[in-house]
Parts: sequence; structure tokens; C-alpha cells
Amino acid sequence: MSDIAHAADVLRSGGLVAFPTETVYGLGADATNPRALRRLFAVKERPVDHPVIVHIARGEQLDDLGRDVPEIAHALADACWPGPLTLVVRRRVDRVAAEATGGRDTVGIRVPDHPVARALLDAFGGGIAAPSANRFGRVSPTTARHVRDDLGGDVDLVLDGGSCAVGVESTIVDVTGAEPVLLRVGGISEERLAELVGARLARRTAGEVAAPGTLESHYAPVARVELVRAAELAARAQCLRAAGLSVGVLDAPDDVGEYARGLYRGLRALDRRGVDVILAVLPVHTEGVGAAVADRLRRAAAAH
Ligand code: TXA
Ligand code: MG
Repeated sequence: MSDIAHAADVLRSGGLVAFPTETVYGLGADATNPRALRRLFAVKERPVDHPVIVHIARGEQLDDLGRDVPEIAHALADACWPGPLTLVVRRRVDRVAAEATGGRDTVGIRVPDHPVARALLDAFGGGIAAPSANRFGRVSPTTARHVRDDLGGDVDLVLDGGSCAVGVESTIVDVTGAEPVLLRVGGISEERLAELVGARLARRTAGEVAAPGTLESHYAPVARVELVRAAELAARAQCLRAAGLSVGVLDAPDDVGEYARGLYRGLRALDRRGVDVILAVLPVHTEGVGAAVADRLRRAAAAH
């Protein structure tokens, strides 16, 4: 049996399969299986009221899992899928278990753009609920190795699809209201969304869960993260070292796409070195995926 067919079987029998997407690795479970979902939350150490994203193979399945899906959702899906956009729509209760959505009436759905993820979704057929494959609040994994380091034997199978091409999570847009609302910045830029919608989206990216996952502190390494501008870096590093702290530096490549791709790998590498403080240089350009990099760094810094 192929790896993919085996992985689909593991999901069908209620198991947990980690798989690559273009954003980060996900920890997958059958979105209709309450027991599998409860185990998923337990392994992630995630609060049970914190909804996860359900992945589907094709945009046409949006109406299978969601109901009363508005025209704007179809337009965004057509333009961005497969790709790093999650749409929050009303949930069909027989297709998505309440356990996947923290009991909410809505569900976040996306079609990932990665050949392994798509092959798995095709073989499985239904929706795969998959949060990022890390413990709750921690740095998301962008390689299979990261997943094994974090979750070890708690996951039944890890599909290896190399390094994630985007490197930060999907953008989340809630389309259940009169106007689409941005809940999390991510792989699809605000500029692109504004182009598609015809206006800049309202944001609800902070506070008691707009998207429950957008907690103020999240995406956090073990080391304390401090944000600095490039010009301040050397002086700040010297000051911390003089105080006896070990310091790691996360430099900002000019290319924001490159920064996004290497962000979590970089944070993880510094944690492995056991530094006390990570000095992270904010991206110079915050258009495109640069906004997501800045957002994740701010949340990482807010965690300590
Ligand atoms: O790129 C991604 O989105 C990755 C890959 C694996 O697809 N997944 C991911 O999942 O980042 P997770 O669970 O780490 O983050 C899911 C986010 C959370 O902030 C959650 O609150 C939000 O999606 N979310 C999911 N369903 C929602 C809903 N019905 N209403 C509001 N927010 C929702
Ligand atoms: Mg996550």
C-alpha cells in the first residue's frame, strides 16, 4: 500500500496523521470523528473551545461542509485555492463535528497547496481537521523533523513533504457577516484580498477570539523574544550580553518571502542552542507576507 493510502486508512480508523501543507505542517484527524478530534486536542494540549481548520481537496467541497456560503466566499475560494486562505463559514453539523469547532456554528475551511496534502485529501475523501502540528502556543513546524521533535510518538504517522514553501500560516477571513472580516494575517496578503473584495477588509485580529487562535501571545519559542530594528541590534545584543545573558539573533532577509520561509526554522534553531533571549529584527517591508512575519514576531514577543 502506498504511504498516502496507508495514511488515509489511519485517518479512517481514527488515527492522527501529520502532513505537509504549503504554510506549515498540520496534525490531521477525521473532521467527522469526535473521538479522533478529542485525541487531537489532547495531543496538541489545546483548549477544547479553540476551533481547528478543516482541509478539503477541492473548492467544490466548500458547500458540502459549509451552509449558506455567500458569493464572496466562492469568489475568494476561486481566486486563492489551492492556497493559504482559510474561510470561516457556517457549519453543516453532519459534515463537521462540533469537537472540531469548539462547538461553534461556524467552521474554518481551506484547500492547501501541497501535492502530499492534496493526495491525502483525495484519498481520504472527506474533511481533515488539522491545526498546526505543534503543542499549543508554540512555534509551528515547517519540516517533518520539527513535527517529530515536538510530538514524538503521540502522532501515528508523519508524512514528509520537505520544507514548507510559505512558512507562515494561512490568512483567515470570516465571511459569515455582512462584510468579510480579516481574522488572521498570513500567506495571502491584505493587498491581494483588497484587490479581490474591492475594498480593504475590516480587521478583527486581536482579543478574545475573533479567531480564538489569534491570542496576543502565541507562536512562541522557549527563549524570550525581543523585537529590534536593524540599527539597534548590535547595541542591544551587547547590553544583554553584558548583563550575562546569552543572545541569539534572528536577522531579517530583505526578501520577506525568504523571511517567512525561514522564520520558524530560525526560532527553533535558536531555542535548540538554548539562548536566553532572541533578538528578532522586524521585516523592513510589511507588504505581502511581511505583515504575517511581523504579526507572528509580535505575538512571540508578547509571550514572555
Ligand atoms: O496554515 C494554516 O492555517 C495551518 C495549516 C496546517 O493549514 N493551520 C493552522 O491551524 O494554522 P491552527 O489550528 O494552528 O490555527 C487555526 C486558526 C486558529 O486561530 C483558530 O482560532 C482559527 O483558525 N479558526 C478556526 N476555525 C475558526 C472559526 N470557526 N471561527 C474563528 N476562527 C477559527
Ligand atoms: Mg497553530
